[in-house]
Amino acid sequence: MPADVPKADLSNLPRTIWWDTDPVDGVPGVYLIDQTRLPLQGDILCCRTLVGVETAIQSLALRGAPALGLGAALAVALYSENESAATTGEEWLAGIDQAAERIAQARPTAINLAWGANRAKEHAHDLIAQNTSLMSAKEALVAFVQQMLADDEATNRAIAANGAPLLAPHSRVLTHCNAGSLATAFYGTALGVIYTAFNNDKIDHVWACETRPLNQGARLTTWELMCAGIPNTLIADNMAATVMAQGWVDAVLVGADRICANGDTANKVGTLGLAVLAQHFAIPFYVCAPTSTIDRSFADGSQIPIEQRDPRELAGFTASGIITPQGAQEAQALDALTAAGSHDLSFKAGHQMTVERKGGAYALDAWFLTTPPGADIFNPAFDVTPARLITNIITEDGVYNPARLG
Ligand code: MRU
Repeated sequence: MPADVPKADLSNLPRTIWWDTDPVDGVPGVYLIDQTRLPLQGDILCCRTLVGVETAIQSLALRGAPALGLGAALAVALYSENESAATTGEEWLAGIDQAAERIAQARPTAINLAWGANRAKEHAHDLIAQNTSLMSAKEALVAFVQQMLADDEATNRAIAANGAPLLAPHSRVLTHCNAGSLATAFYGTALGVIYTAFNNDKIDHVWACETRPLNQGARLTTWELMCAGIPNTLIADNMAATVMAQGWVDAVLVGADRICANGDTANKVGTLGLAVLAQHFAIPFYVCAPTSTIDRSFADGSQIPIEQRDPRELAGFTASGIITPQGAQEAQALDALTAAGSHDLSFKAGHQMTVERKGGAYALDAWFLTTPPGADIFNPAFDVTPARLITNIITEDGVYNPARLG
């Protein structure tokens, strides 16, 4: 490739999740970037308990199927380090089993949660079966889950290497939600294919769907692509048909939360509509996912549990940012407002706004109501795309025709 061809620059992308030990008190923690506040705040959360990771998962601070699987595995090891009072291998395993069962159920749709929790659990059982001492088993479990983070990045790079050749040179591709580096340990699945394809001169442009109601596409995917230097345009979800009808989309690339034995695939709500449109406009539709997302125990998509989320997500929208005071007077007013901690501003109806001091800055978190209070709302987080609408499933092991997955 000539030297002047631009390359995806991932050096500015944060790690999604990692294990570390606090240098002050020596307590281990699972650290993660709070994805609810990206891109305008870059908070890092430190979880020290299983429930801490569970809360991060349920609030979507940690999200995206592969990242959820890693979070579940790390949560089991975190329980072992910080919460288990076991003195024997048997007691330890009983606690690990409970921890794994609980974290696997933190959200219902992505199979990766159960996959990650089970991998950690099975490794713990193997260690005790091999007569490893309890202390060594605990250490080995931490090392094991940390290795899972590195393995995930390698898996994503293999998915990308398998997927990029499917695209024609100078493709314009469309993606939904965020199946990027943030949804994995690093690199991403659908966006991973895009990063590698861009480096191989296969991508000219990316269309990112906004992904209502929580705007993972608008907040996270556009941010990742902008960080990486890949030309992209944000569209509202209901504009996909418009850009396809113009002939501006050569392929659709999405991630997956669960792929059944027959190839039916659950992914962020809105994916099904895109697949129907892609078929109408004869555009190839690719699902990019690790094999850990395949659930052969489900024959077809009708069995996939679809998460129903809080109606408030659809009744309004959230915004986060850092306030830059204009002059000393405004800064003093903000100091006074936040002197006793975070301050909730009051509205006659609906909106919520909290201002809090973060170091020397002031952070704003808001939720704006856009519907009439009390409106009836249906808010499924995922939908199921039938296998017949999927051109290929791209995994780290190879590219599959969904009908032949079994
Ligand atoms: O609710 P989210 O943000 O966890 O939903 C994420 C998605 O649906 C992603 O597209 C999917 O997990 C694939 S991520 C590689």
